[in-house]
Amino acid sequence: MADFLQRDPGLPAFWDERFERQFTPWDQGGVPQALRDFAAASAPLVTLIPGCGSAYELAWLAEQGWDATAIDFSPAAVAQGKAVAGAHASRVVEADFFAWQAAQPLQLVYERAFLCAMPRAMWPQVAARWAQLLSPGGLLAGYFFFDEAPKGPPFGISRVQLEELLGADFTCMADEAVSGSIPVFAGKERWMVWQRL
Ligand SMILES: C[S@@+](CC[C@H](N)C(=O)[O-])C[C@H]1O[C@@H](n2cnc3c(N)ncnc32)[C@H](O)[C@@H]1O
Repeated sequence: MADFLQRDPGLPAFWDERFERQFTPWDQGGVPQALRDFAAASAPLVTLIPGCGSAYELAWLAEQGWDATAIDFSPAAVAQGKAVAGAHASRVVEADFFAWQAAQPLQLVYERAFLCAMPRAMWPQVAARWAQLLSPGGLLAGYFFFDEAPKGPPFGISRVQLEELLGADFTCMADEAVSGSIPVFAGKERWMVWQRL
């Protein structure tokens, strides 16, 4: 779609415009299977979902007994996320990932379509913030999008770039193929778990 007014994905207005016009090709429409599998094999973790969008994962994790918080800096995304979260709407919060403060230590940061929503120039800031939010042993787990196309979002990463981005502060614990990808990510995303060093 060529007629969007907002072109800078670093600004909330970019995402507001797309949520308001219901142009959300990144939206899974539900809880991804790899997260379901991960959660089934884990004790409940204090979890942050940055850039949550529709936040399907929030209510699902809460229903599994997890202490999860979802944040997004786009008011339109937050409205959508709260509607999806229903009884758990108060856990969907309007906040900038770079400024949000955790009320208690996080054990997990869940990643889906957040890093790839960011201009590549912002990736070092994202990685530094992940490292800041997690104590040693904490987990960064989710979907990572591998692609070389120059234009985005989504902005894909290479394995070398990802290792460069995370290698100083995290070690990779899991790196798995996924099923059930929606078209925009199909064949180009993997489930990964990185542990804070
Ligand atoms: C591509 S969408 C992905 C939404 C959701 N994670 C999903 O998988 O459907 C990226 C989301 O990140 C949000 N976002 C981008 N930068 C952000 C920031 N600095 N702080 C909080 N949210 C941000 C956008 O508003 C948007 O909702």
